Amino acid sequence: MAARSVDTTAHDRRRYPSHSKGDYPRMEYGGQPDRLRQDVFVDVNLQLRAFQERDLPFLDRLSVDPEAVGPFMWSGFDGVRRRRHRWENDGYVGEASVALAITLSSEVDDAPAGLASWQINPRHQPGVCYEVGVMILPEHRGKGFGLAAHKLLVRHLFDFTPAHRLEAVTDAENVPKQRALERVGFILEGRRREVYFRSGSWRDELMYGLLRSDRQDSRQ
Ligand SMILES: CC(C)(COP(=O)(O)OP(=O)(O)OC[C@H]1O[C@@H](n2cnc3c(N)ncnc32)[C@H](O)[C@@H]1OP(=O)(O)O)[C@@H](O)C(=O)NCCC(=O)NCCS
Repeated sequence: MAARSVDTTAHDRRRYPSHSKGDYPRMEYGGQPDRLRQDVFVDVNLQLRAFQERDLPFLDRLSVDPEAVGPFMWSGFDGVRRRRHRWENDGYVGEASVALAITLSSEVDDAPAGLASWQINPRHQPGVCYEVGVMILPEHRGKGFGLAAHKLLVRHLFDFTPAHRLEAVTDAENVPKQRALERVGFILEGRRREVYFRSGSWRDELMYGLLRSDRQDSRQ
C-alpha cells in the first residue's frame, strides 16, 4: 500500500489557535531509561513525563474504573497490585516497555490526564518495531489531546530511537482511535477477525503501521 501524504498543520491551527507552524514539541531525551525518568516532552498543549509517586491514584483508577479506560481497553477488574508491582519494579520506564503520564498545559496541578506507552514488538529484532498506545481520561476526550499525544509519541520514537516501524492495534469499532492514528499518518494494514473477547462477544481488531519513510513522505 502506498504511503499517503498527510498535512495535519491546518487542522491543528483550527483546533489550537495558539499552534503556529513552528510550534514543534521540545523533547530532550537521550534514549536511555534513566534519562527518560527525568525528562519531559513538551507540546503546546500537553506534556509527556515519567510517572511519579503522587500519580499512583491515577494508575489505581485504571484498574478499578471501567469508565476511565473506556470500553475498548477495559478487560475486567484486575486489582491495583499488578500496576503497583510495575511501579515498584521500574517506574513504568523499562528497556522494552515504557508508559508515561500525559499532562495538560491548561491544568495547574500537573495531574495525569492520560497515558502514552510503547513497547518493543518481540517478533522483530530489538529496537526495530514498537507498538504504541494512548489513553485519555473521559473528562478530557474529544478535545484534540489524543491526537496531540499520538503526534508527540511518534515524533519522540522516530527522533530518539532507531525505530523503523511503529504499530498500533485497535478495536474495529474504536473510531476516535482510528481517526487519531490516520491523522498522524498510520496506514491501515489489516483486520484480525474475532481475535479477542470483549463485552460478551468476539471482536475484530485493526492493525495500523507507520514506517519511518511514511513519516518522511508526509513531511514533504
Ligand atoms: C482513542 C483516544 C486516545 C482518542 O483521544 P481523544 O482525545 O478522545 O481524540 P481527539 O479529540 O484527539 O480526536 C481524534 C479524532 O477522533 C475523532 N473523534 C473524537 N471523539 C470521537 C467520537 N466520540 N466519535 C467519533 N470520532 C471522534 C476526532 O474528531 C478526531 O478526528 P478528526 O481529527 O478527523 O476530527 C481516546 O478517545 C481514548 O483514550 N479512548 C479510551 C482509550 C482507548 O480506547 N484507547 C485506544 C486503545 S487501542
